[in-house]
Amino acid sequence: MLIGSVAVSLALVALALMRWDQTQADTPPPKGMVVVYKSPECECCARWVTHLKASGIAVQVREDVPLTLVKKRLQVPQALSSCHTAEVDGYVIEGHVPAEDIRRLLQERPRISGIGVAGMPNGSPGMEGYGPDEHYQTMQFDAAGKISVYSAH
Ligand code: CU
Ligand code: CU
Repeated sequence: MLIGSVAVSLALVALALMRWDQTQADTPPPKGMVVVYKSPECECCARWVTHLKASGIAVQVREDVPLTLVKKRLQVPQALSSCHTAEVDGYVIEGHVPAEDIRRLLQERPRISGIGVAGMPNGSPGMEGYGPDEHYQTMQFDAAGKISVYSAH
């Protein structure tokens, strides 16, 4: 009898946890919050998150979703594919994009799918100190797959 009620209690706790989990997943993040998908092992990703937070951007980190699925769902162009993928207000942010570009994106709200920095250029936010700083470009892409320059760094 006692074992039975303990089992029922445990089942109820498990159910409550599952519902809580679902609620978390179903609730859209607040406006302006950058949801970052990364693997737990990625060090430069964590440094990019630190860069965003330091510049005053609210960040939520998700390490529970396979990155390949995220990139597929968000239709990240292969040419821009990088170590992490993020979402903010319906836009895709791919790779080591500087916070200033995200800020500008959210201010101007252009009709594009998102912006991204291909590869992991030395000196881009989160990639400091790995070697001499490189010049790099933040690219923009649209639903049709068209890619063009968004900004130069
Ligand atoms: Cu990286
Ligand atoms: Cu990364």
